Amino acid sequence: MGIQIAPSMLSCDFAHLADEARRIANADWLHVDVMDNHFVPNLTLGVPVVEALAKAVDTPLDLHLMIEDPDRWAPAYVEAGAGSVTFHVEAATAPVRLARELRAQGARAGLALRPATPVEPYEDLLPELDMLLVMTVEPGFGGQKFLDLCLPKIRRARELIDRHGLDLWLQVDGGVSLDTVERCAEAGADMFVAGSAVFSADDPADMVDRLRATAAA
Ligand code: DX5
Ligand code: ZN
Repeated sequence: MGIQIAPSMLSCDFAHLADEARRIANADWLHVDVMDNHFVPNLTLGVPVVEALAKAVDTPLDLHLMIEDPDRWAPAYVEAGAGSVTFHVEAATAPVRLARELRAQGARAGLALRPATPVEPYEDLLPELDMLLVMTVEPGFGGQKFLDLCLPKIRRARELIDRHGLDLWLQVDGGVSLDTVERCAEAGADMFVAGSAVFSADDPADMVDRLRATAAA
């Protein structure tokens, strides 16, 4: 698949969600952060907003669910039009069952790891997934500083994916910018989420292209 860029809509102007999405029509995916005030100390948006955005834009939606009980809530995001749904392993009761359910609905299934969650215990789950998300900040807010301590885990995740010959995208999310994207790519990530870096740029679409070019270099 090569390098993919998924700008996080968390840093856009929520009053103009669809217009903001259209400013970055060159993005591969739109990353949409769902927070529930329980799994993380922040509250964003839910199914009705995702449904409206999916209808309004052509770019596929990459949902990042930072919520408790994703087993119960995640499938509704596929029905709402998401092409990819990622849930946190720390919150899921039955991650294998949930990943299978999301795939059976026709979506890509992703598993997310907080910075302190190791990847090794989930080696046997990887064939059940389409994407692994290694968080490079504590989830909850945009604009945080990239955690270099996550780089070895990205490397180990890449090794596991390659060792098993899996077609699984390795996503990084948190503090990704022109300063950090190279380190992530070098460690083996191939899908990059960037919120503040994209939406604080004068030209967000140009920033998407620059992030892609820097990651590919
Ligand atoms: C944080 C979210 C991220 C966030 C990234 O919990 O999952 O997607 O929007 O924002 P930046 O790129 O500003 O760190
Ligand atoms: Zn996210």
